[in-house]
Amino acid sequence: MTVRVGAGPDAPPVRTNTWATQSGRPHEEDSVTDDELRQRIVEVAAQLFAENGYGGTKLRMVAERAAVTPRTVKRLGGNRAQLFAQVLASRPPSDAAARVAAAAADPDSAPPVSVLIEVASDTFATPERSWNTVELEALTRSHTDGDVRALETTRITTRKANLRTLTEQTRHAGGIDARVDTEAFVHFALALSAGLAVLDPVSADRPTQASWNTLMARIGAAFAPAGFLLSADHEARTPWRLRVDIPDRPGALSLLLSALGTLHVYVAAAYALDSVDGDRTIDLALMAPEKVSATTLLAAAMTVGHHGYVMAGSPDDGGDLPTRVLDGATELVTNPGSAPLAAATLVEADSFEVTDATEGEDDAENVLRLQWTANQHVVLHRDWAPFARAEKTRASALLRLAAAMSSMAGEAEALGWVEPLGSGATIWIRLARPEDSDAVAAMHERCSEKTLYRRYLTAVGQWRDITLRRLTGGHRGATLVAMSEEGTIVGLGHVFPDSPAGAHVAEIAVLVEDAYQRLGIGTHLVRHMLDLAHQLGFDEVAGTVLAENSEMLKVLDATGLVWSRRVEDGVLTVRAPLSTPESGGRSRDGRRLLAPPDDLSPRSRATRSAVWPTPAGAP
Ligand SMILES: CC(C)(COP(=O)(O)OP(=O)(O)OC[C@H]1O[C@@H](n2cnc3c(N)ncnc32)[C@H](O)[C@@H]1OP(=O)(O)O)[C@@H](O)C(=O)NCCC(=O)NCCS
Repeated sequence: MTVRVGAGPDAPPVRTNTWATQSGRPHEEDSVTDDELRQRIVEVAAQLFAENGYGGTKLRMVAERAAVTPRTVKRLGGNRAQLFAQVLASRPPSDAAARVAAAAADPDSAPPVSVLIEVASDTFATPERSWNTVELEALTRSHTDGDVRALETTRITTRKANLRTLTEQTRHAGGIDARVDTEAFVHFALALSAGLAVLDPVSADRPTQASWNTLMARIGAAFAPAGFLLSADHEARTPWRLRVDIPDRPGALSLLLSALGTLHVYVAAAYALDSVDGDRTIDLALMAPEKVSATTLLAAAMTVGHHGYVMAGSPDDGGDLPTRVLDGATELVTNPGSAPLAAATLVEADSFEVTDATEGEDDAENVLRLQWTANQHVVLHRDWAPFARAEKTRASALLRLAAAMSSMAGEAEALGWVEPLGSGATIWIRLARPEDSDAVAAMHERCSEKTLYRRYLTAVGQWRDITLRRLTGGHRGATLVAMSEEGTIVGLGHVFPDSPAGAHVAEIAVLVEDAYQRLGIGTHLVRHMLDLAHQLGFDEVAGTVLAENSEMLKVLDATGLVWSRRVEDGVLTVRAPLSTPESGGRSRDGRRLLAPPDDLSPRSRATRSAVWPTPAGAP
């Protein structure tokens, strides 16, 4: 069977159709050449074969949709089988096949294995990009129709040849083990993608693109030889950043680097960040060949890890981290106000803002909120990957440095307050930081059921639902911790707006662990909390206290404020106006609210410097 498409040298002479329909009206075929008509017929037939399959497509339907007579369809397209063959011949190779063919023809354009991974990932997620319905119909008909079989055999042979070339190129680059047979690999790849396309209409629960990527990369890695070392065939010039959680086990990092190495990717810098729940977050600055895409990088990383993030990098990303830290510190010395910028630079935030302590976004995956001073918070944003715990600590450490410098420069409260307790010991009260979260969690673990219930008014254990980031200052308002001379966090105080921004009422809540209660810590904490509420511009403070909680009620009474009480179901809502700014921060009884201790005993001073640089919970 000979199929002609278009006006090649063998095409019949072009003629113009000038006849009319039976109705006498000019037909759409008027003034159209045979070639144009044939094209239209083949196009329409392609649509109908795709919609109805071979069996469901009649020449009459083609004629109707193409607005020609059935005779014209027969004359230019032949019978149904011939028309189908023409349709098949007119179809370009699939997108995936075209990419394989292009890569096979130009092996220097991209590492062949990266093309294999990308095409396979796309094919898995959207099989129709690799096998359209006409092609699938042709595959099925090849079993019974010799003409279609001949045509389809040619097409499949070409696809296989390109895939074979790409496979050999991958093998040459060291990406495929010598024991993996090329023909087996090629058949495997084609059969897998064709099978997926056949199954596609009846596959209800399709895997996600990400899970396909991971599976594909796994399969790719399984074909790779052990201990390969690639030739430097592909110049790696494009910077990328990759962050991925890999198992915190020996050998996992080397597997990750090998998977990336298969793509001719170089590692410019690598940092191991947090280890959480058996995983370690790895941060990499990479240089990759130009054609290796973000998807492929991620797929390679997913052979070893999970929770991966990729973004375009900069050539500077490979710069030395300690140098960056020291540069930030130097900038701080000359310009202490640059602390937020230095913190943002250190953790590579996309943006940052310095907000009033009562405004702005709370901590979230991509938002890092830090208490900079009592009145001002630094809110950092980063879109491409969530802030790792270690980064929170880094940014916080920079703000600690800034606070220490302010303290050295004579700013009395920059590091908080050291307060004397009746026992002769002292307690250090200061703003909470993200790195306190472990110590705060540990303090909760040491608390009795009764104490926790009094604080959270919920069943034991539910304090964890009030996430630790919220408990350690990642929200609007202020969070204080009280640290013992042993360097243990033993108390926690919160002052937060009781409703969205603009609120005038500050809610206060306090917790002192059992072993440290009745020493005066709660009283000191509450005094400082009230002072902060005042500084933050709140007019009133409120709290929720169990009616039986006489300890807390005594602490509140000791503040000198006038508390109103409303009781409901055994729970008191207490409320008190704060002194006005004109009153100079004095409570109604004239006592100054929350002044730092006038004289720090030598012991207190020693405690401060001994405790401060390494707060409990800092890694
Ligand atoms: C309520 C709570 C915060 C009080 O903390 P605290 O550190 O024990 O408070 P203080 O030590 O400052 O004051 C409590 C008692 O100690 C006494 N005290 C204060 N300084 C003291 C000192 N130097 N030596 C001995 N006792 C002292 C206070 O007079 C008071 O005693 P009293 O009850 O006999 O009058 C604490 O009990 C707690 O965490 N409870 C559970 C959580 C809670 O109820 N929170 C309130 C709702 S949000």
